[in-house]
Amino acid sequence: MSTSLDKTSLQKITAHIGARVHGIDPAADLSDDTVAFLRDALGEHKALVLDAPGLDAAGQERFAARFGELTTAHPTVPGGETPNVLDVDSDINKANEWHTDVTFVVNPPAISTLRSIVIPPYGGETLIASSAAAYASLPEPLRAFADTLWAVHTNVYDYAEPRPRRTAEAAYRETFESTPYESVHPVVRVHPETGERGLFIGGFVRGIEGLSTTESRDVLRLLQAHVTKPEHVLRWSWQPGQLLVFDNRITQHYAIDNYDDQPRRLSRITVSGDVPVSVTGQRSRALLGDSSHYSAVPERSAAA
Ligand code: SIN
Repeated sequence: MSTSLDKTSLQKITAHIGARVHGIDPAADLSDDTVAFLRDALGEHKALVLDAPGLDAAGQERFAARFGELTTAHPTVPGGETPNVLDVDSDINKANEWHTDVTFVVNPPAISTLRSIVIPPYGGETLIASSAAAYASLPEPLRAFADTLWAVHTNVYDYAEPRPRRTAEAAYRETFESTPYESVHPVVRVHPETGERGLFIGGFVRGIEGLSTTESRDVLRLLQAHVTKPEHVLRWSWQPGQLLVFDNRITQHYAIDNYDDQPRRLSRITVSGDVPVSVTGQRSRALLGDSSHYSAVPERSAAA
């Protein structure tokens, strides 16, 4: 049976990001109107939370596929229950770094869906920041400066950071980096559906084109601190059996490691994205690695 919109409502969670969706069961066969409603809500609120007690991996795939073609699990990490599922498992990766998913490829996912399976009794929240709110609240001279910048993103970590201590984490990192990818994206990206501008940076950025390492670090520190200002952030406290859907084109996220090594498991499925476009209409470029097995690169983005 198709879900109608009669009993559907949205409950805003914070001023700039996040809404609870009531009355839509993501496991149901969704009508086109329902999908259009969710797409509009995502454009406005950037992150949506739905109760999804009966949702399994196949249902999550069906739900995500209503928003576009799916990516495979990851460019380098093999899939879980199906080739499209990325297991988010605290035993191997805690994701406690601010990032936007898979920005090291030329067309990072448009939408990410996270389904909670095992949630620790305390902690383990996901933070999601609106990079649109961050851009909009920058002082005008900094917005104009950021508009001109391009950043190099890569999946290969710089080892200023300590290597993970646990064997499983070290093995995960090795797999993650097994094929190097590099792409150059505008620091200010224009959203292909809403036209909003957002700061498109995060944990995979390794430098700003044309700046020295020190200059890049200072500029990124300033912009990244602004993205993650508490006013721009939703802090979601999970229950098992929920679905968090966020617009990966205009958000960053972070899983808080505050649960004392207790198990935490989610399933991630992502929807393919377009090639980012700058405020002057220039498209991102791939520098290294062919990611077409992960997500086919569209000829032209919707905005171009
Ligand atoms: C992710 O980065 O995809 C996972 C986020 C989370 O575990 O909350």
